[in-house]
Order: sequence, then C-alpha cells, then structure tokens
Amino acid sequence: MNDISDLRTQVLAQVAAADDPDALETVRLTALGKKGAISLRLRELGRMSPEERQTVGPALNALKSEIDAALRARREALEDAALEARLQGEWLDVTLPPRPRPRGTIHPVSQVMDELTAIFADIGFSVAEGPQIESDWHNFDALNIAPEHPARQEHDTFFMHRAPGDNRPPHVLRTHTSPVQIRAMQAQGAPLRVIAPGRVYRMDMDQTHAPMFHQVEGLAIDRDITMAQLKWTLEEFCRAFFEVDAVELRFRASHFPFTEPSAEVDIRCSWQDGQLKIGEGDDWMEILGSGMVHPHVLRAGGIDPERWQGFAFGMGIDRIAMLKYGIPDLRAFFESDLRWLRHYGFAALDLPDLPAGLSR
Ligand code: DAH
Repeated sequence: MNDISDLRTQVLAQVAAADDPDALETVRLTALGKKGAISLRLRELGRMSPEERQTVGPALNALKSEIDAALRARREALEDAALEARLQGEWLDVTLPPRPRPRGTIHPVSQVMDELTAIFADIGFSVAEGPQIESDWHNFDALNIAPEHPARQEHDTFFMHRAPGDNRPPHVLRTHTSPVQIRAMQAQGAPLRVIAPGRVYRMDMDQTHAPMFHQVEGLAIDRDITMAQLKWTLEEFCRAFFEVDAVELRFRASHFPFTEPSAEVDIRCSWQDGQLKIGEGDDWMEILGSGMVHPHVLRAGGIDPERWQGFAFGMGIDRIAMLKYGIPDLRAFFESDLRWLRHYGFAALDLPDLPAGLSR
C-alpha cells in the first residue's frame, strides 16, 4: 500500500509540473497508458490472494480516478491560460484614435465640395461629372454660345492643340462647369436633378483670379419647375452652407446665353472689422449666376423643351470657401504651402454631414 501512496504522490507531482499539453499527455501515458504504472499494477491483481486483491483493487481504482480527474483539471487550466494569453496578445482598443495623428489635412476646396455635396444630396441632387478637356461644342455651342458670341472672348479660353491641317474646332480646357449640364441631360434624360462640382480654367491671374479654379453647377429639370423653386433651393443651400438660421437673397436681372430669364444672385451680409456676417447687415454680395434653362440648351441635351423645363445655376467654389472660412487671398489656395494647408485645412477623417454639423 505504501507503494500506491508513493505512486500517487509522484504522478500528481508530474501532473502539476506539466506546463503544456504534450508534457501532460506524456504523464498520462506513463501513468494510465497500456504500459503505464497503474495499468501494470492492475494487471498484477490476478496474481494476488483474494484478501490482498480486496484492499489493493479498490485503492488502485480510486487512484486511477483521482489521476484521471487531476489530468483533466490540469488540461483545462492549460487551455484557459493559452486562451487568456491569446486574448491578451490580440487585444485591440478600436475606440482609440489612430496614432500618430494623420498629418495631412483636407484642402478647404475639397471640404467645401464635400459640404456642397452633402447639402444638395439632402434635397435630392446627385453628383454629375464631365471631362476637364472639353469639346468646343459642349463648352460653347450646346450652351447657346454661338461662334461669334462675345462670351467666347470673355471666357479667356485655353485651347488645345490640333494637328496641322485638322480644321475641326480645337478642344478647350472647360471654362465653366456648365457643359456638364449637357452631358447629364444626354446621359440621364428628364426629370433630372444634379450638381456638378469641378475644376475650370481661364487665362486670368491676379489676387482674386487663378487660371484654374472651381465651380459647382446645378441643374433641375422637370415638368413644371419654376424660378420660385430655384430661389428656395438656393436659400436652403445658403442657410445650410453658411450655417446661419436665415439668409436673404436678391435676384438681379442679368444675361447668360444658356438661361432665359437669367439672374445674378446676391446675399445679404455685413462687414464688421473685416469680419463678414452672412444673413444680416446692409451690404449685398454677388455669389452666383442662375436662370431658367434656355430651350436651345434643353434641345442640345436631347430634352424636348415643349414638355420639360428647369433651372440652372453656377457658383464659384473657391470664392464661397474664402467667404465662409475667412481666407483672404485666392492664390494661396494653389501654392501648396504646408503651413497654409495646416492652418486652413480640415481634419482628414471628419466627413461633413448635415446632422453632425458641416464644419466641426
Ligand atoms: N457658367 C457661368 C459662368 O461660368 C455661371 C452660370 C451662370 C452657370 C448661370 C449657370 C447659370 O448654370 O444658369 O460664369
């Protein structure tokens, strides 16, 4: 019996010392395996006297169960420890901000484009695009700007090169986003509600002009669109964009070849100590051109002006970015000065959306 007691102490110590599943399996085999210490002793029972067997048998069986339970408990403990180690190793706090903070910023023009897109999406406008190298027809003729029309000269157009002897009109760097009106009408037909933000080019350079700048075009076509809807849409846009409770717009009769009637739109504002306030005061500032789409333009877009009508508008993005964010000089927009970009740029991971506020 002393022998059994020694065996017990020895095996339980081995179980406790096994610190991985393989070591534990070795302990199991040396104790309980076919040729293990317990199994060998059980086999010897046959050669014992009945009295001896009656005490040794139950003792061996009890030891066998005890070792079995100890092995199982040790295996579970090892598995728990392994899982815990893995959880610790793979633990990741997804609520922490990325570090180091991204150093790049969103350019004010991109920010304003994102803001515009969010506002107009909210009132049902999708985004349309067109090429920056545009055909003369899309940029001018289709917009009712005939070859001899003075607007062609006013636009200070950059012309692309044509091979000598090729007498077709050269392509142009688009002078406005209005040609996207034609492309959207051709691609989608009526009814239609799109905005088209993008780059435009004119040969012009001073404190308020750059040869490349940005516009956003708007176009809404349906059976009975009126100027009242144009006015509501623009008011709604300005209120949301300038983040004020109320704005006042003034429509001034004007002329654009692609709209009839046409209006330039001013917004009520004030300047106090060089600070612009939108929505109050005695000043007016022009912010965009607009009107009812000219029948010639609808026709060029493949839309029947007898059945459909609509409004359009075009607005300078750089300018409204300067106004909203108090940026004094347009030229700095395109100089890629890191100090300027860090100062006027926006957090790279914040996308403007209406419920959360446009310019957090
Ligand atoms: N394309 C004009 C420009 O660049 C802006 C404009 C005015 C666009 C009136 C329009 C509009 O769609 O209706 O000066």
